[in-house]
Amino acid sequence: MKALITGGGGFIGRRVAEELVRRGDRVVLMDIAFPPGGLGGLGTAATTVSGNLAVFTDVLEAVREHRPDTVFHLGALLSASAEVDPISAYHVDVDGSFHVLEASRLFGVRKVIYTSSIASFGPGVPDPVPNEWDQKPTTLYGVSKVFTERLGEYFHGKLGLDFRAVRLPSVLGAGRGAGGASAYSTYLIDEPVHGHAYEAYCEERTRIPLLYVDDAVRALLQLHDAPQERLTRCTYNIQGFSPTAAEIAAAVRAKVPSARITFRPDPKMQAILNSWPRSLDDTEARREWGWKPSIDLAGTVDRYLAALAPASGR
Ligand SMILES: NC(=O)c1ccc[n+]([C@@H]2O[C@H](COP(=O)([O-])OP(=O)(O)OC[C@H]3O[C@@H](n4cnc5c(N)ncnc54)[C@H](O)[C@@H]3O)[C@@H](O)[C@H]2O)c1
Repeated sequence: MKALITGGGGFIGRRVAEELVRRGDRVVLMDIAFPPGGLGGLGTAATTVSGNLAVFTDVLEAVREHRPDTVFHLGALLSASAEVDPISAYHVDVDGSFHVLEASRLFGVRKVIYTSSIASFGPGVPDPVPNEWDQKPTTLYGVSKVFTERLGEYFHGKLGLDFRAVRLPSVLGAGRGAGGASAYSTYLIDEPVHGHAYEAYCEERTRIPLLYVDDAVRALLQLHDAPQERLTRCTYNIQGFSPTAAEIAAAVRAKVPSARITFRPDPKMQAILNSWPRSLDDTEARREWGWKPSIDLAGTVDRYLAALAPASGR
């Protein structure tokens, strides 16, 4: 299988690429900017293409030249960045999705796998939110996720493109950027584990769904591999675990007693976080393609500590 990953230089894109390479697939990474320090464990195993999702010809050219079987469409401006620069976010997250789907249709791509988000839901939803529920997000990022889910379903139903999407919780793991309003969940662990103090910009009682990056990658590949006849829809909720920010801090302190964590809520970030669900009902993903998270909060903290071990000699 040959895969093109948009946003392939990003946090989740690189991890998806590593897993695809590990299982013998060919991988092309498309991104507007790759990490200056290189692609880490990926080395030269993947081909890289510089391109802007907002520019249709860049996307057309990448798909035409590389003719992937599957596009993993992960490139985006995340929630906090999108609120700061909504016009760019519209071009990247809305136009960019159309560009990816239309280029895929034109050049015979078989599957498009998309990373939607908990942010596609708005305030006032039940806890947990069922897979099928009104999506009335209050952020542009959330609007772009709903738009891409519906556009993908249109391409699937009317134009025969095999579009599949997961609504990811906030994804935790080393190397995550700060562009999402949910980034506090990673930094609450990452900073103390590295011996740094961390002042979280959210309230202690903030509760959103979280997922460790290895499970997020596994979900994307599992959905990709699922037989079409098992799937009754294009878009699936997946749930990991849903601790409060205070519970994350407690889990870190249990393993790193010297952790220095304080809370100073930022009203703008808090408003975004308050608009998101507390947890998602992932019954359909479990039933139809065998989704099951494998890493809980304590396991996540352990993995951060294990990742440190070679550097610190721990
Ligand atoms: N990280 C999370 O917690 C989370 C949660 C839910 C959904 N998602 C979704 O998963 C996907 C990947 O997220 P991530 O955490 O890896 O984010 P990331 O910011 O690390 O990666 C996104 C990548 O997209 C690239 N990009 C931005 N604008 C572009 C453009 N105009 N053209 C081409 N590339 C462009 C960036 O350079 C970056 O490498 C996104 O679609 C995001 O919305 C992430």
